[in-house]
Amino acid sequence: MPPVSVSPLLTLLADGRYYRVTELLSASGLDSAELSRQLGEFAQWGIELDVDSDQRYRIPGGLSLLDAAGVRSSLSPIATQLLKSLQVHPVIDSTNAELLRQAGQGISEGTVCTAEQQTAGRGRRGRQWVSPFGRNIYLSVLWEFAAGPSALEGLSLAVGVAVARALSNCGVDNVRLKWPNDVFIGDAKLGGILLEMKSNAEGVCQVVVGVGINVAMPEEASAAIDQPWVDIARDGEMADRSRLLAALLDELLPMLAQYESNGFARWREEWLALDAYAGQPVVLISGDQRQEGIAQGVDETGALRLETPAGLELFFGGEVSMRPVRNT
Ligand code: BTN
Repeated sequence: MPPVSVSPLLTLLADGRYYRVTELLSASGLDSAELSRQLGEFAQWGIELDVDSDQRYRIPGGLSLLDAAGVRSSLSPIATQLLKSLQVHPVIDSTNAELLRQAGQGISEGTVCTAEQQTAGRGRRGRQWVSPFGRNIYLSVLWEFAAGPSALEGLSLAVGVAVARALSNCGVDNVRLKWPNDVFIGDAKLGGILLEMKSNAEGVCQVVVGVGINVAMPEEASAAIDQPWVDIARDGEMADRSRLLAALLDELLPMLAQYESNGFARWREEWLALDAYAGQPVVLISGDQRQEGIAQGVDETGALRLETPAGLELFFGGEVSMRPVRNT
């Protein structure tokens, strides 16, 4: 599959300046029918377009679009070697769904899919992941594991460590991890991780690692989020999304390449240092079952250690969710 990217017209308008129609036509190489089709499409994607009395167009405030070439050029040598292809879709249903579709068509590990917008972003436990245009990070990476699904316990926790490292490298401080898959700042969710898998006939497990990070969530879009959330812009400075994407790939790709031989044990100490709920009373919820206890970190496979009235019990990820007792 060839690399995908946003149209030259959108790249031009992203600088936030006014352009006459003639300038848009000559700079983009489009004819007028295609120009008006694309402008209509931008509006459908939720991009604000302003037209002044001289019929000049602009995107107020501009947009910071993902820049595939910029991402590639700032990757570390090892990540550059591990990256097979980088797709930047303007709009897609879900970057995870897209890589799962492509996995069946023989793409190889190290294929990365990102998008400016997801129309059906997927969260854990069947939830929607709110994914407005040009504001956040929606990233999926395909990786293959020859030993099959059993070798992957703890992988999503190791992904969390890689994400926290990347955020810290971009100056985003105070990031914590909430077992099993959430990225937090304080009591609010900054990002989430969703692993989806597919096994092929040879027993090789193809894993799509999906990461969503709220960078500058617009207030209107946030109305659909049903839990406390935070974004990077709210917590401090507006991050450059391409730089953040490169930082994520710098951490994620080498971690994925090493995971099968090292397992979670190598990431455990770092995960424990980032644990948002260490020593705190929590409740685990799975369907209509609840178990209260004190969170005691994770074991070397990534299972949660919960001190319950009946003693120490281990819980594995999957469909389990955890909340602090005060919020239940
Ligand atoms: C969660 O519920 O916390 C997991 C959210 C995962 C969202 C990311 S965004 C990129 C990738 N594509 C998806 O559809 N979901 C994941």
